Amino acid sequence: MRIAIFGLGYVGCVSAACLAGEGHRVVGVDVNPLKVETINAGRSPIIEAQVDDLIRQAVAAGNLRATADATEAVLDADVSFVCVGTPSNENGSLDLRYIRNVAREIGQALAGRDAYHVVAVRSTVLPGTIAGEIIPLLEETSGCRAGVDFGVCSNPEFLREGSAVADFRRPPFTLIGQWDERSGDQVAAIYEGVDAPVVRTDLPTAEMVKYVSNAFHALKITFANEIGNFCKKVGIDSHEVMRIFSMDTKLNISPAYLKPGFAFGGSCLPKDLRALLHRARQEDLDLPVLQAIPRSNELQARLGVEMVLRTGKKRVGILGLSFKAGTDDLRESPLVYLTETLLGKGYDLKIYDENVSLARLTGANKRYIEQVIPHISSLMTTSLEEILDHAQVLVVGNRLPAVARFLDGTDRDHIVIDLVRIGEALDGTGENYRGICW
Ligand SMILES: NC(=O)c1ccc[n+]([C@@H]2O[C@H](COP(=O)([O-])OP(=O)(O)OC[C@H]3O[C@@H](n4cnc5c(N)ncnc54)[C@H](O)[C@@H]3O)[C@@H](O)[C@H]2O)c1
Repeated sequence: MRIAIFGLGYVGCVSAACLAGEGHRVVGVDVNPLKVETINAGRSPIIEAQVDDLIRQAVAAGNLRATADATEAVLDADVSFVCVGTPSNENGSLDLRYIRNVAREIGQALAGRDAYHVVAVRSTVLPGTIAGEIIPLLEETSGCRAGVDFGVCSNPEFLREGSAVADFRRPPFTLIGQWDERSGDQVAAIYEGVDAPVVRTDLPTAEMVKYVSNAFHALKITFANEIGNFCKKVGIDSHEVMRIFSMDTKLNISPAYLKPGFAFGGSCLPKDLRALLHRARQEDLDLPVLQAIPRSNELQARLGVEMVLRTGKKRVGILGLSFKAGTDDLRESPLVYLTETLLGKGYDLKIYDENVSLARLTGANKRYIEQVIPHISSLMTTSLEEILDHAQVLVVGNRLPAVARFLDGTDRDHIVIDLVRIGEALDGTGENYRGICW
């Protein structure tokens, strides 16, 4: 394919070198004449393993050249990759000036081009930027329409400086956010030689995945550093701890616990985090990331309460009371907090939780239920029909299979507040459906 690459920094140079190395015909575009000259002389403008060799070979083979002329590059290409910088402004917002300039330049060039062309944004931009800023600029300057005369994709880059070529060739996935199917097809065709699954989605999801990834990487580093600081204080080798910790790919290094939803609770997480933080205080250790967790969790629990308050309806059915489905453990369940808060505000509640109902009769939690939360226990019912008759609002707090089946098969005009994404199991969620963080 014929590819124009705008911005010959780290991302642009590595993309240009690797794509040209795979046999695509690549033209790099940069406003910096020194970078253009360097590439045309067969050398790399950046210091990065293998890039110098790849550029020398690609330029010698006639697959790679550079220019300062945007129009010439676009006219000769099927796809333009936008790889210019998106630095921070002083207040932390994104400086889109380079992206906007490139969008205008590509748009002006597209005005003189008849053949279909796709603009793929590799620079990191906040969700909504491509649809809200880049496409309008491209349409305004070209007089053409996205999805009709030209295509648009988000194609975030996941390379790390220092191992950029290896990362480019074997990324975790090739992510393509597409404005339409045809745009995505064209960009996907470029990556046929890359050994990675291709994930195709919409523009803002792809833009967001890039930010989630970097925020998570930053969180992991900070988390590990705080654990390291704690370990050092108490005389334990942090690297040995994290080595063993990372061996658990079921719960620790895995998709577990990465599903947005309601607050955590139960008999272990809140208690153990409190103990760790208490010990850190005794050691005069400041661990701001770990210290922020209880507060964030409280806010999430409160968000669930506020969602109910906002409905303006007083008769509420709570589906699930224990801290997660499949257990009767009510200790520090955020659903107990939600229930007690609503009760305190005079709400008229009925509660369904098959595990807790069973425990009320026999289980080890019988005493807890009778003595600590008798006010809640008396609101419980084993009949989902009774809840449905009573309630104007249903709060789904657990992924109880019986609840999913029941809600799926029932005609209802209740407001459903979903804290666990049970909506996916329902057939048509309707305008009365409200997810806590989706
Ligand atoms: N560096 C990384 O490791 C990395 C990894 C993934 C994503 N990203 C993202 O990719 C984007 C580029 O990052 P980078 O580190 O390669 O940037 P960079 O600052 O190294 O390079 C940007 C290049 O764009 C050029 N440029 C500016 N305006 C131009 C224009 N109108 N036409 C052509 N070229 C122009 C500049 O001269 C410069 O050479 C950023 O959004 C960044 O957040 C970077």
